Amino acid sequence: MKTKFWIVDKDVEKELNQSDIAEVAGLLRNGEVIAFPTETVYGLGANALDEKAVEKIFIAKGRPSDNPLIVHLSDADDMSRYVSDIPEVAKKLATQFWPGPLTIVLQKKVNSFPDIVTAGLETVGIRIPDHPIALSVIRAAGVPVAAPSANKSGRPSPTTAAHVEEDMSGLIAGIIDGGRTAVGLESTVIDCTVCPPMILRLGGITTEEIASCIGAVQVDPGLVVESITPKSPGMKYTHYAPKAEFVLVEGTPSFLQSIVDGKRKQGIKVGIYTVEERRGYYQADVVLAGGSEADLNSVAEEMYSILRQFDQTDVAFIYGETFSDMAIGSAIMNRLQKAAAGRIITEKKF
Ligand code: TXA
Ligand code: MG
Repeated sequence: MKTKFWIVDKDVEKELNQSDIAEVAGLLRNGEVIAFPTETVYGLGANALDEKAVEKIFIAKGRPSDNPLIVHLSDADDMSRYVSDIPEVAKKLATQFWPGPLTIVLQKKVNSFPDIVTAGLETVGIRIPDHPIALSVIRAAGVPVAAPSANKSGRPSPTTAAHVEEDMSGLIAGIIDGGRTAVGLESTVIDCTVCPPMILRLGGITTEEIASCIGAVQVDPGLVVESITPKSPGMKYTHYAPKAEFVLVEGTPSFLQSIVDGKRKQGIKVGIYTVEERRGYYQADVVLAGGSEADLNSVAEEMYSILRQFDQTDVAFIYGETFSDMAIGSAIMNRLQKAAAGRIITEKKF
């Protein structure tokens, strides 16, 4: 299949032109899969009411069938067509954070979506993305759009159209290139069918922000304690793993450098993942810096792109710094710990 590209020059315009929007909407209605930008990461969209179309997403991604998809809408009023009960807390969250990087899990109406969308669950995750292209495409298609991140399963989520092309070229009908995504990591997923609501995936909206909106909130213990299986099906898979062995180092920069020096003495090629503040400090075969420690949002924005860049190099090990787990930092650390498959070296303090 030839994958078509639509390119939006953000310096000139924010949206696709009307005829391109109509073309993409028509393809979605006809059961095709289209990758599009959202404010978090690129999504791989298909008509959520069309079982065959949604099947194509699973095939293109190589996604396990027990992992449900998020349904994207352009208008919160459409929600009541698909979910049976919208608790007060969900209304509050929707009012405060939509459009935005929050997915709200609710009880789905019987027969609202084919089982493949929700992996047979009785709940469905709904999100309204904060991106003009995503919103206008969903609106024009006139159908709810099921969309996981537009990466191959197990690869870092795509934050540019070039990342999508790496993973999906030839496998889907089209890619809308709307430039680099703003947030850089996925939406927060919160289950509002339990009381108090439970965060199933840390993401673009912080736990602190959610607590200040609705008061009591719990975080799935499976996200924090390694021996507990996470409640959200997608969180149990090893995600975001770079090809090299990725190891987190908790300690001083000189401690991290000493580990790297030891490996390189053995003739092993080593990469370091750091921030702008210390780009010039480290010595290794490859040093990649993304964002500033003083602004963790900038770290989130570049994290997946850096993990992908390491895959273009021949390093066998990557040593990465750790971050404070305040605010967006906890979502960053969650993704990095997954990328490192739990490998972490902690400097002894005397
Ligand atoms: O930011 C995002 O959320 C991006 C953009 C494209 O919107 N989408 C995204 O989708 O990250 P995906 O499929 O890569 O991740 C969805 C996560 C998975 O961990 C999945 O298991 C979980 O949400 N999920 C979806 N529906 C669920 C449900 N009903 N109950 C529990 N977890 C659910
Ligand atoms: Mg994903």
